[in-house]
Amino acid sequence: MIARKLITEFEELRYEELSASDRKLIDAAKEMTGQSYAPYSHFYVGAAIQMDNGEIVRGSNQENVAYPSGTCAERTACFQASALHPGVAMRKIAVAASTEEGFQQNPISPCGACRQALAEYEAKYGPIEVLLYGNDSIYRFPSVSSLLPLTFTEF
Ligand code: THU
Repeated sequence: MIARKLITEFEELRYEELSASDRKLIDAAKEMTGQSYAPYSHFYVGAAIQMDNGEIVRGSNQENVAYPSGTCAERTACFQASALHPGVAMRKIAVAASTEEGFQQNPISPCGACRQALAEYEAKYGPIEVLLYGNDSIYRFPSVSSLLPLTFTEF
């Protein structure tokens, strides 16, 4: 038997410590929580993706009365990004979430399906940095695969 360890390194930052362009991406994700369609969960999520061509592509969660038919903000954004800008690398994604009480204190954590969807573009075009917003702090991961170790990318 060989005991192995998976280690994920990430940074915890304050908003003021981010570059102007990272703040812009976070602001876009926060703004998109206002365009969420979440009448069932009342959990409003926004995502913004920095594309290699300078564009920012946005998304929000879109729920449905048939619950599994809805999608998360991250997948709305990355599918939109790939559909609008085929072949263009996604460099960064920022995610934020709010409820009636305001933005989450702690950084939002993307679900497994969204990590998998993003990982596909990362495998194709290179690392996608992940910025997870919380009022108290922001988590910065260097890549999607650092959030999804042993990523399934090919068969
Ligand atoms: N949701 C997202 O959009 N992104 C996440 O990272 C976590 C969860 C959505 C799905 C659903 O509309 C609502 O939040 C509650 O789970």
